[in-house]
Amino acid sequence: MLYKNYIDGQWSASETSKIFKSLNPADTSDELGEFPASNTQDVNKAVEAADRAFKIWSKVPAPKRGELLFTVAEKIRDRKEEFSQLMTREMGKVLKEARGDVQEGIDMTYYMAAEGRRLFGYTTPAELPLKAAMAIRRPIGKIAAVTPWNFPFAIPTWKIMPALVAGNTVVWKPASDTPRVAYELTKIFDECGLPKGVLNLVFGGGSDVGVPLCKHPKINMISFTGSSDTGKEIYKYGAEKLNKVHLELGGKNPIVVLEDGDLDLAVDGVVWSAFGTTGQRCTACSRLVIEDGVHDALLEKLVERTEKLRLGNGLDPQTDVGPLVNRAAQEKVGRYVEMGVKEGAKLLCGGEMDRTGDSKKGFFYKPTIFAEVTPTMHIFQDEIFGPVLSVVKAKDYYDAIALANNTVYGLSSAIYTRDINKAQRAIEDLETGITYINSGTIGAEVHLPFGGVKNTGNGGREAGLAAIDEYTEWKTVYIDYSGKLQKAQGID
Ligand code: UN1
Repeated sequence: MLYKNYIDGQWSASETSKIFKSLNPADTSDELGEFPASNTQDVNKAVEAADRAFKIWSKVPAPKRGELLFTVAEKIRDRKEEFSQLMTREMGKVLKEARGDVQEGIDMTYYMAAEGRRLFGYTTPAELPLKAAMAIRRPIGKIAAVTPWNFPFAIPTWKIMPALVAGNTVVWKPASDTPRVAYELTKIFDECGLPKGVLNLVFGGGSDVGVPLCKHPKINMISFTGSSDTGKEIYKYGAEKLNKVHLELGGKNPIVVLEDGDLDLAVDGVVWSAFGTTGQRCTACSRLVIEDGVHDALLEKLVERTEKLRLGNGLDPQTDVGPLVNRAAQEKVGRYVEMGVKEGAKLLCGGEMDRTGDSKKGFFYKPTIFAEVTPTMHIFQDEIFGPVLSVVKAKDYYDAIALANNTVYGLSSAIYTRDINKAQRAIEDLETGITYINSGTIGAEVHLPFGGVKNTGNGGREAGLAAIDEYTEWKTVYIDYSGKLQKAQGID
């Protein structure tokens, strides 16, 4: 079936006849649909629709906008299982994790629905008599949302829900690996009676759709989740127009295990964080820093557990680790593993594609652990976005923190220790936007800010109240009811 773009409240055929297919990465004979490889003309139509709709939607009272999101949340909740199965087929993550992804989207939608009755600003005394002062939130305008495939449901909701409740309109370009999930989410909005043009969906590639969308003069803000390289390009497009640009970029997230840490708990956290979602989370743990005294013991347990992980189709309840999203991702992992071996790291397990049995049908790679990694190696520094864990030994707490911080990225980090002083210090010392104590690097909740420091972004945060700050602008209002000219700053 050929799916269509959603523009101005209509499912509309693209101006091009070019198409791309969405395939199941666990079994490429399973096709999820054909989608238009849209172009600039489609983008222009979508932005014009968003521009017209903004004039209306921004005037709808925020509690009413919230109510609409509430009905969207209810519908998603009713269809959670269907969306989860679809997601597993489309991008490979195991079903229980797909359910988590959809749940995260449901949570965000309810959360932002309720914001319709808050969107708090503030009032404050003015410095002159008979004068009131307040700061209120205003929508920014038309938002370009460019979203990744690894959380094809949750991440779009992180952008679309706060944007809409705040009164903005959106043009959404989903990743080309997960168009079908994007279609299904958009369909829910359509079924719930979202006014035309408020959310528009344009399928297609980065250069044909993403670039003209971000560069469009009528787009007022760009929100992007993806690689740091693409993020830097997008930042430039925004800079040309002085747009606000929200960037949620790469990670090379460390887990530190100190000698006084609970090793078994740490093994659980590392395996889950490094190999869950096949390592394809921005928050995935890709570096493990172990204090000297427990290095060998922890590694032994870790390798033993990792070797037991079962690869396979994510719809099979026995599967622990699904495929990578596509062939390019699988090959990239292969290249990095080769590089790691060449650079002198010690391969402890994995290190090869899985081509046994049904794995031949998809893009599987065995969970891989390297020991004796050094900070100059590519596998220590680069975001691989796959099931590859690099392990380093640290002399003490200070060395461990220095190793953990030895990266250009700063999204998530974790530390295992029973020493409250060290845990508290680590909260200050670890240079990341998110830090976990005695738990892995993944699993952020929607009502708290999500984002990172250093090359992980440009200072913005998604989720929680921070999202409301992202998708609104402050308007300051002074009301003088004295009936005469009063001058501020004591001028008489
Ligand atoms: C991502 O990998 O881009 O904290 C998002 C987590 C999830 C979200 C990850 N709740 O791992």
